[in-house]
Amino acid sequence: MCFSCENMMRGFRPSWVVWPLLLVCLLPAFADNEARIETRIDALLSGMTLEEKIGQMHQINAIYRPESADSLKEAVRKGHIGSILNEDRPDHVNELQRIAVEESRLGIPVIFGMDVIHGYRTIFPIPLGQAATWNPEMVQKAARVAATEAASTGLNWTFAPMVDLCRDPRWGRIAEGYGEDPFLGSCLAAAAVHGFQTHDLSANGAIAACAKHFAGYGAVEGGRDYNTVILPENVLRDVWLPAFQSSVKAGAATLMCSFNEINGVPSSGNAFLLKEVLRDEWKFDGFVVSDWASIAEMVEHGFCADRRDAAKKAVQAGVDMEMVSGTYQDHLAALVASGDIDVSLLDEAVRRILRIKFRLGLFDHPCRDRSAFPEQMSPEFLETARQCARQSVVMLKNLNGTLPLSANTGTLAVIGPLADDRYEALGTWHCRGREEDTVSPLTAIRNAVGPDTKIIYEQTLSHPRDRNIKRFIKAIQACDRADAVLVFVGEESALSGESRCRAFLTLTGAQSELIERVSQTGKPVILVVYAGRPLAIGREIDHADAVLYAWHPGTMAGPALADLIFGTESPSGKLPVTFPQTAGQIPVYYNHKNTGRPPSGDVTLDMLQPGPRRQRLPFESYYLDIGHKPLFPFGFGLSYTTFEYANLNIESNTVKNGGLLKASVDVRNTGHMEADEIVQCYIRDLAGSLTRPVRELKAFKRIRLKPGESRNVAFNLDTAEMGFYSLNGRYVVEPGDFQLWIGPSSAEGMMETFRIIR
Ligand code: BGC
Repeated sequence: MCFSCENMMRGFRPSWVVWPLLLVCLLPAFADNEARIETRIDALLSGMTLEEKIGQMHQINAIYRPESADSLKEAVRKGHIGSILNEDRPDHVNELQRIAVEESRLGIPVIFGMDVIHGYRTIFPIPLGQAATWNPEMVQKAARVAATEAASTGLNWTFAPMVDLCRDPRWGRIAEGYGEDPFLGSCLAAAAVHGFQTHDLSANGAIAACAKHFAGYGAVEGGRDYNTVILPENVLRDVWLPAFQSSVKAGAATLMCSFNEINGVPSSGNAFLLKEVLRDEWKFDGFVVSDWASIAEMVEHGFCADRRDAAKKAVQAGVDMEMVSGTYQDHLAALVASGDIDVSLLDEAVRRILRIKFRLGLFDHPCRDRSAFPEQMSPEFLETARQCARQSVVMLKNLNGTLPLSANTGTLAVIGPLADDRYEALGTWHCRGREEDTVSPLTAIRNAVGPDTKIIYEQTLSHPRDRNIKRFIKAIQACDRADAVLVFVGEESALSGESRCRAFLTLTGAQSELIERVSQTGKPVILVVYAGRPLAIGREIDHADAVLYAWHPGTMAGPALADLIFGTESPSGKLPVTFPQTAGQIPVYYNHKNTGRPPSGDVTLDMLQPGPRRQRLPFESYYLDIGHKPLFPFGFGLSYTTFEYANLNIESNTVKNGGLLKASVDVRNTGHMEADEIVQCYIRDLAGSLTRPVRELKAFKRIRLKPGESRNVAFNLDTAEMGFYSLNGRYVVEPGDFQLWIGPSSAEGMMETFRIIR
């Protein structure tokens, strides 16, 4: 093998402050390099056959491929394959790449992709859990670790981040995204892109990001995967597109189009999205890959007559590379020959694919030097995963300071199907994460307690869907002997993720009964819940004294949870998504519209006396059986300490359109423990030419305060970002009156008013 090895991985990690400076210094060199890349692409394109062009647009799956290893090598040798997914065995990657570079006619390298979503071997919390950290720096670090481990095997590309917003926890893929809010989602999307790619895509350890699934996928009807999406363009632009635009601005090398249709047009054939919005408006110059067979599926959608038609419509819409289904390979040559499509469309697609291959440095350094990488699961990576998991946990209840527990609690009963489980902590896309690498909560609790603390462990249910209650008696006996009870329940990781949608958001099996029985012992009950989505567990929470919502926390689940349970650190996560009381309340999200009849108070069925007479109840927008409030609002999360907000100040209550609104508040730690708080800033546009949401998140900061410490937290809000899309597709900021809140969640905060003037 004649492969040159890359230089050592760079340790330099620019902070948010250094980025602009870095850009100014690097811009001229970058421009030169970009010009050289385009010249090299011109040269390649002019020598490429039609077959070789189509080859670049074809991605093959290495795992279930029909061909033998030899025919795959032959296809690479002939230049018939532009990308391979799901091949990360280093020797295979190197050999295929060697063939591409040394034995194919033009020596064009292959790009190797894989779903490295929340970690490669060191597994981080699922993205929804990462979003609960409200910490872009942490999300960036998690992506950096994932990319470093992935790149060490030869992978160049991850199909992440998934930046689909979601307001419907029935949708299994809510686990893979950053929650319901366009602003939080945009910040975290950009952070993940920076983490995967670094500032230099060609650096050893950088991999190309892929913002997916473009677009509107999280809005599938009924939260059922692959289902229809109906969204007016202005809502699409206001809510569902910002995280994609933010990914593009952050430099995402690629985008993946989604499975769903929007308003009758599947994304793989959607020229409005892929051309008008993505290329013309946002100036995206990377490439777009289809989702798995999503081009061929346009026939099932009823949008294309057959596979040939699907290939034609996808190319015309701007899908550059086809994942798996092979309609490009089968039909593009004939489509060009018949004049149905112009070869210039293929040239454009190939140019975009080659551009990313050049930016990745694949032509100059096709192979990664494994010796230049740190070990997988290094102590540093594991520590980052532990911190991330710790920050992702949201404390939903803590009656009378039940938590933290003392490490010398006497006797602790540890109960439940997930207490000593190592697999379910890994979550939906755990890539090469291994059960045996994971530390279970029980192990970590045993390590954390003092020598005099006795632990009684009762699994009771063998898995979360177990309905067999025969071991309840032993669990209750354990609780009777204990000073406090920790119950580990939740959703298996296989119940969230792609095609894992649920109509009921309840705990499965006999878990709810277990919680109820345990609570009847009168002992302090602490629930720890694993889940890939918000669960409607109000009743179970009523039975508990304290609740830690842990999502699927990853490899370091146990140590992170033990840190919180015993108070080495305070919980600091806040919900990135609203929790419904029941599935029947969906959609329920914080940035909803007010309606003409907003609810003025809580109304419940109990207020309705039985009897034949129709009684007066408010004619307002609520449910008679559950009222109007969610179980927990967006942005909510408790801490072991308390924070007081005071002195909300707006520098000037009148701001010119386009000017900065400066708002600040004093936050004081009034409790007894040093802890982080996530300070959130919301606005409301009181009257618009289109109605506006009751609140919109515009800024947030994670701060750390010692007991008694106070800090002035200031936000500079750009009024240019306080607008919305009008019905004709234009972004407008309308002068008028606004409200502003700064507080600890979307349902609280101090309020001031301001006015935007022309
Ligand atoms: C999923 C994508 C994923 C792709 C490749 C598809 O089924 O929708 O998110 O990247 O498979 O594994």
